[in-house]
Amino acid sequence: MTNDNPIGVFDSGIGGTSIWSAIHDLLPNEKTIYLADSKNAPYGQKTKEQIVALSKKNVDFLLEMKCKLIVVACNTATTNAIRELRNDYDIPFIGIEPAIKPAANNSKTQVIGILATKGTLNSELFNKTAEMFQNTTIIEQVGYGLVQLIEDGNLYSTEMTQLLESYLQPMIDANIDYLVLGCSHYPYLIPQIKKILPEHIQIIDSGEAVARQTQNILREKVGFTTAQKSEPIFYVNSNPVVLDSILEHKYNVVQKDF
Ligand code: DGL
Repeated sequence: MTNDNPIGVFDSGIGGTSIWSAIHDLLPNEKTIYLADSKNAPYGQKTKEQIVALSKKNVDFLLEMKCKLIVVACNTATTNAIRELRNDYDIPFIGIEPAIKPAANNSKTQVIGILATKGTLNSELFNKTAEMFQNTTIIEQVGYGLVQLIEDGNLYSTEMTQLLESYLQPMIDANIDYLVLGCSHYPYLIPQIKKILPEHIQIIDSGEAVARQTQNILREKVGFTTAQKSEPIFYVNSNPVVLDSILEHKYNVVQKDF
């Protein structure tokens, strides 16, 4: 089975490019279309209804582009809207959820930390998953302000360092040995986070797992492309400068209202 249509990927902004990049590394021949809904970021402080409506708007755009599969490269949109998307559209969706399972299963201290948006930590889907790990203490922290600083291109600012220190120090004090990054924007903060965490604390995100899952669904249900190489397209509905720079000016970034 083959299928030359593109894979669609969306996020509230530029953060999902961390997931896109894992997909592009594993499946370089596949054409990908990435939507950064930066105009509406952050999603993390919005209501479930707003997140569902924004997610549907993004999916409609990607379906107009004939996408064969959609990756919801946003924990907040996945945990609040993936059920509604799967109910309303006849196309496979791959979501991204905080990787608490590998962290809890491998933790020696039985204490893990999770940094995510308020929307993710308050969602029913996240709480149901967390309840499955009764023997592990999960220290939850909302990353207030982090997404906005990333969207504004202030990754290495003093404000960023101060926020991260205030969120991570209580976790270090509580003896975590795993930190789960439950927001697709946060992998861009790994260098700064590593400066704060002691070396033995491992950081986990979900990028590679989502890429492998995408490969499985293409193999089982949708079909791989016959193309030898494809250039990705990135659409953004606000100023494209930060997206272009996070992609190191290597790809086609188009500013468009959607
Ligand atoms: N990147 C998103 C996530 O994975 C959402 C960030 C936001 O818009 O608040 O949760």
